[in-house]
This record gives sequence, structure tokens and C-alpha cells, in this order.
Amino acid sequence: MCGIVGYIGQLDTKDVLLNGLEKLEYRGYDSAGIAIRDDADLHTFKVKGRINTLRERVDDSIASTMGIGHTRWATHGGPSAENAHPHQSSSGRFVLVHNGVIENYQELKNDYLGGVTFGSETDTEVIVQLVEKNMETYQDTAEAFRQTISSLKGSYALGLMDKQDPDTIYAAKNKSPLLVGLGDGFNMVASDAMATLKETDQYLEISDQEIVLVNRHFVQLQKLDGTVVHREPFTAQIDVNDTEKGTYPHFMLKEIDEQPFVMRRIIQEYQDDSERLKLDEDIRSAVKACDRIYIIAAGTSYHAGLIGKQFLEKMAGIPVEVHVASEFSYNMPLLSEKPLFVFISQSGETADSRSVLVKIKEMGHPALTITNVPGSTLSREANYTLHLHAGPEIAVASTKAYTAQIAVLAILAVDSARARGLELDFDLMQELAIVANAMEMLTDQKETMDELVRENLGITRNAFFIGRSTDYFVCLEGALKLKEISYIQAEGFAGGELKHGTIALIEEGTPVVALATQENVNDSIRSNVQEVVARGANDIIFSIQGLERDSDAFVVPHVHELLTPLVSAVPMQLLAYYAALHRDCDVDKPRNLAKSVTVE
Ligand code: F6R
Repeated sequence: MCGIVGYIGQLDTKDVLLNGLEKLEYRGYDSAGIAIRDDADLHTFKVKGRINTLRERVDDSIASTMGIGHTRWATHGGPSAENAHPHQSSSGRFVLVHNGVIENYQELKNDYLGGVTFGSETDTEVIVQLVEKNMETYQDTAEAFRQTISSLKGSYALGLMDKQDPDTIYAAKNKSPLLVGLGDGFNMVASDAMATLKETDQYLEISDQEIVLVNRHFVQLQKLDGTVVHREPFTAQIDVNDTEKGTYPHFMLKEIDEQPFVMRRIIQEYQDDSERLKLDEDIRSAVKACDRIYIIAAGTSYHAGLIGKQFLEKMAGIPVEVHVASEFSYNMPLLSEKPLFVFISQSGETADSRSVLVKIKEMGHPALTITNVPGSTLSREANYTLHLHAGPEIAVASTKAYTAQIAVLAILAVDSARARGLELDFDLMQELAIVANAMEMLTDQKETMDELVRENLGITRNAFFIGRSTDYFVCLEGALKLKEISYIQAEGFAGGELKHGTIALIEEGTPVVALATQENVNDSIRSNVQEVVARGANDIIFSIQGLERDSDAFVVPHVHELLTPLVSAVPMQLLAYYAALHRDCDVDKPRNLAKSVTVE
């Protein structure tokens, strides 16, 4: 949550910062601000709202080649111009942007900042006021900054400017993502490489509890004790075109359409020249050595984990538990003797998952992260990483990363089965190629889905999704997708469970989406549909070729039964997309949400 960017160089900073912030809006978008420095002064512009509102507010006549910016997802203090970053110290000398949560801000306020008048309700302001306070003792900005950073507890990626220093942006990181973008005559800091891709593809990684002094011509990394750190730069592997919408009206629709390509890329990446599965030998050994897998994830990634459990248990015979990351610490199960933890996370930054990772590492257990961002925190801190190869996912609602997670989990399951000497009677890569073709057929049927939504979800307040077996897990995801972007109250249920309470909510016309893609439960789920129809529900059945019946609303192409979630997910995503569109909702940036949830 929240994104920061900083630039020091030769170009007009305003544009660099605003363009960069636009790329970071997925991290939060309830308020935004920039501070820029010209020869005379620091100028700060802050708004409640999005970057386009900020763009209108910024004074175009100020020429500046140095600045910092922020896009916010509110934690401490509601969304307002006052609580928007950058925050300024009382004298106006220092300005600061911050992503993260300062856990000891109240303590720092009480202990050191008694007489200071605060201009916001944020935890962040404590940092900038403390820098100013520490200047009284240290008379040197770098030292005051270091002392301040050393006293912080919590997560932070931050950038600071000093009105009296035209040559340095001071940055620091702990737990929240931050990297340095390197250029010729300029340098940058940003929460995500995407914010800087227009300017550079060269980066320097910053580790937790490191400080960076960023000048136009050099960058110096230091540990908190002042020791200088030398680290080699790396080249980002992101294509700048992947971060643009192109001719699409929304990123979400583009990302739904990209799914067939993602499937084919996954096949390529995980298959060697002899068409055998290609997986890191260390991962293979770790899975072989474990006696139980614990999948940890949140939201959509958790839903992918539920399907992954089926794969790993059915194909490889490995017992698997799936846990919601935020609950794991309170409800930690009795662990087996040789557990392997698998973290599933599109962003690789989810704080709830990371806190479990930290805990299980302290306990000495191995961890594998399955993520779309290989350099992310969860990837760096786990022992092993499996890459999703889905390309940047920008819409807040996850689509292509979800199906990529399912495909990579299937690969892991098949590879683990082979490593355990188990014979499987199907060729996964061939089946995934069939899935890719089926997805293409589905993404070609947008008009049908649009029509289906118009007829069935146009004005409804609520909707239910029911399915049995694997379909149930896809229903959980279908309901999440619908509610998060269209604000229709939607819930996913196991088909047999509805009559144990929730059926009381069915009224005349209530939409009930039913998934019927599993042969062994086809009759039972259809009976469940009859139960709700008898109480007035409007049934919308999604079935699969071979199991379809005349009354079905939509039939997905036939694929291997284990892989049906990959195809049934696509119409669920399109359903949500068109429902949001018809309700005039902001498809890519739904209210109250952020893509990367870096607070617990
Ligand atoms: C919903 C969605 C979220 C994320 C969840 C975990 O569309 O995207 O539910 O799945 O916030 O995020 P990651 O996968 O980045 O750990």
C-alpha cells in the first residue's frame, strides 16, 4: 500500500514524478502529493484523490530537477489533503514521503516531540519531525537521518529532501519495497521498477535497514551504522509495453485476454528441450523431503492455493493444508515433522504472508514462494522461488496471476509426483496447451458474457455462487471478483452448504451462479440449483462441454478435469468485469482497495 518515487537529475521533475506515480497508483489511490525543489524553495502539492487531480493542482511554472512523490492508501488518518504525503517538518526545512507503518510512532512522539505541533494524523509525520529534532543535536542531515531511521520500529520505504541541500535525496528501507533506479546524470528511488521504466532499466537493490544517499551522479548505500555497502546493479526484465493499456479500455480486460499467452509462456518456461518438466533441483528435493505442505496466502492467491491442494494431494499424494495468512499466527496448526511452507503471492509483498514467513524461518522451516515478482520480499526471503511469468498485473483485481498460480501449482504437483516415482496418465504440458486454446475461445465470447450480465446481474443487490468439489473453490474466487469490482454483495458456497442457513436469503430473482464442470458431482450440483430455483432464484449455470444441459447459460470448452478451474475462471472474471462496467464502477481501481497489501 502506498507508492513512493523520487528523482534527482536534469529533467523537469514534475512530469517524471507524476508519470511515475501513475504507474504506482495500483498501490493505493486515495490521495497523492509531490514536493519539488527549485533554486529558492521546496514546493509541496497535495490532494485528496488521484494523480490526475494532483496533476491539475501542480504549478506548471516551477522549474525543478529534484523531487519526491507519493500515492496513498490510508492507514493512520483518513484520506485528506492534510494526511497526504509529502509531510513537512515544522520549520518547513524537510519533506518526506513514506510507505509502511511506524509501529512506535506514539512512543517517539511522546518521548522526543513533546512541543511539536503536528499538521496531520499520520504516523509518518513523526519521522520528518524527528529528523528536524535530531538536527539540533547532530547538525548534519545524513547523521540526523540515520539517527532517526535507527529509532524507527515497523515498515518503511521513505524518501527525504532537505531544503538546504540541492544535491541529495535521502532514502531508507525496511520491509516495504524500494529500489534505486540508476541513470546517466540522474538517479531515482521508487517502490516499484514500473515507476521508472521510462527513464531506466538499471537498478540497485536496497536491503532492509539500509540507507541510500542519492545524488545526480552517484548513489551511496550504507548500513545503519554508517558502513558503506557495495552492490552490483541489475537490469529489470520488464517490457515497458507490458505496463501500458494499449487499445484496451481497462487493464483488467487486457489481463483477462492475456491469459492464453501466459499459459503458453508458462509451458515454455517450465519445459526443457526434451519436453520434460524443468524445475529447480533444489525445489524438487525440498518437496521430496517434506511430509506435509502448508500453503499460506491471502485473497485470490488463497483461492488458488485451495486448488493447488487438490493437485498436490491427488497427483503427488502429499498432504497439504491451506491457510489464510492473516490467521495463521493465531491458529497455527500442530506442524508435521518435516513441513514445507509454500507462499503464494502475486505481488510477493503481502505483509500478512511475510509475517508468517518470518515466523517459520525463525522456527527453521524451509519456504518456497510462488510469485509474479521474483525480486519481491517474499521471494528474496524464502529458500526457493517459482516464477509465475504472468507479466505485470496492474488492475487491482487479480486475473492472469490467479490462473498462472493454478498452472504453476499443477506443474509443481506433477513434478513432485514424478519425483516420488508416481506414474500419471496424462501429459500436463499438452493439457495446458489445450487450456490455452480454450481460454482463447472464451475471451472471444465477450459479447455473450456482456449480454448475460445485462440480463441477470444488471440491478441486483446480491448474488450467490455455488459449486461442488473443485468448482466450489472457483466459486469463492468468482464471488470475490464480482464483489471487489462491482460492489454487488456476492458469496461463494459449497453447493450442499447453502441449505444449512444461507438459502434463507434467496428471494424472487436472486441470481445464483452455479458451476457444473465436475462429472462426479454434476447431478448433485444440479439438484442444489433446483432447490434455489424452487425458492425463486434466477439460476445461471456454467457447465462444460460433455456435461452440458439445455438450460445452461454458458458452456466452457472441454479440458482435462483437473484443469477445469483454469477455464471456468475466465467467464467468472468477465462476469465481474461487465457487472462493474454496467454499474459505472472504476474497474481497475475499485474503492478502498490497493493491489499490494503491505500492512497487516
Ligand atoms: C483480489 C486480489 C487480492 C489478492 C490478495 C493477495 O483480486 O488480488 O485478493 O489476491 O491481496 O495478494 P498477493 O497475491 O499479492 O499476495
